[in-house]
Amino acid sequence: MNLPFEETRNLRPATRAIHCGEGVDAETKAIRRPIVMANSFKLNDTSETLAESFAWDNTHAYNYPRSRHPNGRYLEERLAGLEGGEDCVVFASGVAAVGGAFFSLLSAGDHIISSRVCYIGIHGLLVEHLGKRFGVEVSLVDTTDAKQVRAALRPNTKLIHIETPANPTTLVSDIAASASIAREAGAWLTVDSTFSGVIAQQPLLLGADLVMHSLTKYINGHGDGLGGAVIGRQDLITRIRDAASIHLGATINPFGAWLMARSIVTLPLRMQRHCENALVIAQFLEAHPRVKAVRYPGLASHPQHAIAQRQMSGYGGMLNVILNADKQAIFTFLESLRVITHAVCLGHAESLVQYYPQEGNHPELGVLNYPEDIGEGFLRLSVGLEDPADLVDDLAQALARLPD
Ligand SMILES: Cc1ncc(COP(=O)(O)O)c(C=O)c1O
Repeated sequence: MNLPFEETRNLRPATRAIHCGEGVDAETKAIRRPIVMANSFKLNDTSETLAESFAWDNTHAYNYPRSRHPNGRYLEERLAGLEGGEDCVVFASGVAAVGGAFFSLLSAGDHIISSRVCYIGIHGLLVEHLGKRFGVEVSLVDTTDAKQVRAALRPNTKLIHIETPANPTTLVSDIAASASIAREAGAWLTVDSTFSGVIAQQPLLLGADLVMHSLTKYINGHGDGLGGAVIGRQDLITRIRDAASIHLGATINPFGAWLMARSIVTLPLRMQRHCENALVIAQFLEAHPRVKAVRYPGLASHPQHAIAQRQMSGYGGMLNVILNADKQAIFTFLESLRVITHAVCLGHAESLVQYYPQEGNHPELGVLNYPEDIGEGFLRLSVGLEDPADLVDDLAQALARLPD
């Protein structure tokens, strides 16, 4: 592949996933980028050229890897190309990416509106830290209802943050409607698109200023890495890179970045299979007598199915299943699963399930933060890449063990 980065952006998504940020290594002619572990880079030696070694606008000027390193940059180019963003900055984790953006763009006295239901780590960052300790005004609203977002606006609203589909509830917020509310208010719209894995939805094309991903999930997909990314407008990405990479320092390591870039090659194919498998499982569960409810954006019964149809090209691999069973019975179900693993995380090749018990001391699961959205028997299922018939068989035999 000999196309420069800007031209790889014109390719179709499956080709972009393979070629953006890739290239022939100048020294060895390897057709895979090498992993550069160096923590220091040679600076220019003249007073005329020294500044170039530190130039932010030269994305390939390296000096010290906390601010930027080659493997991080290749990954940024691949992600920017895939999401259709002007630029990207990568971090050591998804929380570091979202936190890096918030800390770079918000100051004490600013107001942020965020999805009431969002990943518990982000919820805590907003409420416990930005809100209680750093003087940022935080409004958590039901962003699936654009009217509530509009009603929450204040003169100092700087940022609207939506997570769609939301973790763990799969609730869907309207990206285009949120973008126009943000634009009218002179605020930025940021979208945590982790559940879509890049391929299933493109928030920047719908008007978002920035899109965030936990790379740990679908983008890595192999369950062996941790990373995060913010993608979008050049001016905002430069600001985040400057403030967060240098001063907060949660930089992804070169090997981690290489792993993510390697994984993205198969992302379009993997996402297609996640979406197909999840629909099979959602339909099987919806018809099962021991299941009280299933929530999957691809089912007509999902409360925001119409919005999902408009803004998603696939519905992802995440679904909720609410079982007609008490806590003890649910642990029997979990213990009986043979193919599906009871574990945190999502977007892996293997299917994972997580239980959110209503009783007991489990503050780490965040159940108490969204009591209206999660009832007893709530499970979050990350449907993997296995043969769907094996997943159906596994679920069927475990459901059969539930006591009457
Ligand atoms: C929607 C969403 N955003 C952000 C994160 C945080 O990502 P990480 O675990 O990579 O820090 C998660 C983690 O589950 C998530 O689901």
